[in-house]
Amino acid sequence: MRRLTLLITAVAFAAISCAGSPSAETLGADLYNVSCARCHGGNLEGGIGPAVDANSNTALALTDEQIANVILVGPGAMPAFGQLSDDQIQSLVDYLRRRHADG
Ligand code: HEC
Repeated sequence: MRRLTLLITAVAFAAISCAGSPSAETLGADLYNVSCARCHGGNLEGGIGPAVDANSNTALALTDEQIANVILVGPGAMPAFGQLSDDQIQSLVDYLRRRHADG
């Protein structure tokens, strides 16, 4: 009986851990890795495009609205990402604000 209780507890815990949509945090990181990393670097350190991590001039100089606008419009050589939803854009902005290139 004790084994059964343990098993049920373990299964319930696993179900809770996996339930629900990915958190906003993972969403921002995933979107960045898929759409942005090839130009702005795996650590947001820059490459084809400028560094966009939390310590960069970009992050320090631009408001959240301006960063969102950059993503939607795509300045210069950067492509526009107009297909992203408001939530997706916001999670990207949060990710840029949170992430530091040096770790
Ligand atoms: C094809 C390469 C490329 C991709 C993909 C790309 N960018 Fe860029 N990005 C650039 C370039 C180049 C610039 C500089 C544009 C300019 O000002 O002329 C830039 C600029 C920026 C800036 C700063 C603009 C400023 O005024 O300082 C931000 C923020 C940014 N990108 C975020 C993103 C995000 C978020 C994504 C993914 C959704 C992304 N970029 C995808 C190339 C890219």
